[in-house]
Amino acid sequence: MAHPNIAFVKYWGNRDIKLRLPASSSLSMNLAGLHTRTTVQFDPSLQTDTLLINGEAPPQGQQHRVSEFLHLVRNMAKIRTKARVSSENDFPNGAGIASSSSAFAALALAASAAAGLRLDERGLSTLARRGSGSAARSIPSGFVVWQAADQDRNSYGVSIAPPEHWGLADCIAIVSEEHKAVGSAEGHKLAATSPLQAARLAGAVQRLELCRKAILDRDFSGFADLVELDCHLMHAVMMTSRPPLHYWMPASLAIMAAVRDWRKAGLSVCYTLDAGPNVHVLCTDRENETVAAHLEKIPGVIRVLRANPGGPARLVNEPG
Ligand code: DP6
Repeated sequence: MAHPNIAFVKYWGNRDIKLRLPASSSLSMNLAGLHTRTTVQFDPSLQTDTLLINGEAPPQGQQHRVSEFLHLVRNMAKIRTKARVSSENDFPNGAGIASSSSAFAALALAASAAAGLRLDERGLSTLARRGSGSAARSIPSGFVVWQAADQDRNSYGVSIAPPEHWGLADCIAIVSEEHKAVGSAEGHKLAATSPLQAARLAGAVQRLELCRKAILDRDFSGFADLVELDCHLMHAVMMTSRPPLHYWMPASLAIMAAVRDWRKAGLSVCYTLDAGPNVHVLCTDRENETVAAHLEKIPGVIRVLRANPGGPARLVNEPG
């Protein structure tokens, strides 16, 4: 079982695409209350790996990606057996929540345990990263930094604070439930085609350090400025890559403007967006009822999901 996470300082672009070694370090928070639960059984009678997501066979591309990941696990465990994988999300697919983060974190944990590997947190995070970069951050607990490095073994997620450190809430304003046209895996490859990516990367270390400090100090105002700046920088890169990627919709912009107004009026609230139009509106837990109620009134908001800081990925053994 693993939670998805939301990045405050983003991962966009890889220094090594195959190994998913990121161009810069990133920082996120796990989202409690949202889960991916995955079971893996290696079965000698299987001819191929099989995969069900929420009870259905996913498109070929996703099956292939999971099979490639299982090959990594098989190589580590020195086995050749194929596996049966079944995964359930309790949050809507394609809701702009990085389901690949919880998906590959849960798969790394379940598959490595089923293959008889006993990986520690660092090993699990390193493995999860190979499936999806952001999954490296869903292995440790709470607030997590995933460090960039030149070598596979040095790039993994580390918790900088437990979930109870800071009572934040993520109010996810859903404005579209359609699947995104260009997914993150394709997007990362385009990052380097933007003339702005170099500028974004040049300030990435400093932004991460300032954001880490704002979280450790529970300084919402400093946190808000950094989170929005980092989000705008990533989207500026997306919009100026070739081909360009435009994820914002009119409703996304309306929410962003409203959040800036609410902050000016004194609410502890800010926003960030991933590779999609839905807006993660971050606030202190004390204000989450007010913020969610405000968001629901904005035209174009279909619904609002809410999550607090979440714990680590963990093994859940089914009874019997
Ligand atoms: C915009 O982890 O989904 O959400 O490694 O190709 O699976 P892959 O990409 P992914 O990218 C996440 C991009 C992001 C920002 C972030 O979560 O840091």
